[in-house]
Amino acid sequence: MYLAQRLKGISPSATLQLTAKAKLLKKEGFRVVNFAAGEPDFDTPFPIKEAAIKAIQEGFTKYTPESGIIELKEAICKKFKKDNFLHYLPDQIVVSCGAKHSLYNCLQVLVNPNDEVIIISPYWLSYPEMVRLASGTPKILPTYQQDDFKIDFNNLKKLINKNTKIIIINSPSNPTGAIYSKEELEQVAEIAIKNDLLVLSDEIYEKLIYDSNKHISIASLNKEIHDRTITVNGVSKTYSMTGWRIGYIGAPLMIAKAVAILQGHSTSNPASISQKAALAALNMDDSDLKSFIDEFAARRDCLVENLQKIPEISLFKPKGAFYVFVNISKLKISPAEFAAKILEKEYVALIPAESFGSDEHVRLSFATSKEEIIEGVKRIKKFISTL
Ligand SMILES: Cc1ncc(COP(=O)(O)O)c(C=O)c1O
Repeated sequence: MYLAQRLKGISPSATLQLTAKAKLLKKEGFRVVNFAAGEPDFDTPFPIKEAAIKAIQEGFTKYTPESGIIELKEAICKKFKKDNFLHYLPDQIVVSCGAKHSLYNCLQVLVNPNDEVIIISPYWLSYPEMVRLASGTPKILPTYQQDDFKIDFNNLKKLINKNTKIIIINSPSNPTGAIYSKEELEQVAEIAIKNDLLVLSDEIYEKLIYDSNKHISIASLNKEIHDRTITVNGVSKTYSMTGWRIGYIGAPLMIAKAVAILQGHSTSNPASISQKAALAALNMDDSDLKSFIDEFAARRDCLVENLQKIPEISLFKPKGAFYVFVNISKLKISPAEFAAKILEKEYVALIPAESFGSDEHVRLSFATSKEEIIEGVKRIKKFISTL
């Protein structure tokens, strides 16, 4: 009775709920194998922690400019230039409390009632809810495992009408691990330019890429697409800093200014200490991340190889991020039921994919040790044999 209309139909985050349940079971003494995690299991690297401790000791504990400290914004500009061939000025950068907050802010400042936002399915579960919270309408463009989750551009064109305002892309993708090629991004860009759309490009997993795959920022393709793209990134996944809550955007000046104003009246600046920590993260050398990425690649191979031995299921081998999207449609059980039962019977936590836009998949995170992966797959096999 008391809640605002805009909260109607907004679901709690299934990933956060399931992770909490798995943690509770673990606390109660059950030997849970956790494939639900949406965060790296490594500790935040020492130089980052050291920078935060120094910030506290030096009294860097007060409000900062709402859109972030200038040193951090300059470091982000440098990062965008070096890694992504993107040229932003510090005024075009807004630092927020995580990439989730950055995405939320962007949708709040851009979406009007009746505006439509195209979301490619399977999608990260917060996109549709964020669009609804901004009074917009999510328009879902399905992609399929048998097509390696590639976009069907004819279907994309069919979805566009006079109300379409934004297309959200996420490469590497959570939950599928798919990566868009240059050719695919060029087609998205061409369609966006032709139809006067904005692109919200979520690149949070850009450094977690395996084999010879490459990440390309859509905004780097040409000036026209650069001027209608908001590039979203953050330190959570790359530097194992999920709890520090730092994300950021590079955006056309007008949009960056609007996001800063919104933030000035909502959260104000992200934590001053976390900003100093993020600055230390961005100053780290990419070679410092190598062992971390190699470990993820080895775990991916271990999980994929073991799951491929179970004939009742199928999967897409992820090219990036740290999730394997597993098709369980042959089992004739819904993902939600599969996830609930396997947690109850085998103490395996994984995420049902209904809230990612699929009735056929569950998502397994490989942000866990190889021993856990092997034990977990054994239990999955056992559980499937009882169905
Ligand atoms: C695709 C995607 N985008 C954005 C985020 C948000 O990351 P954070 O708010 O921790 O920066 C996540 C986290 O799970 C994600 O998977």
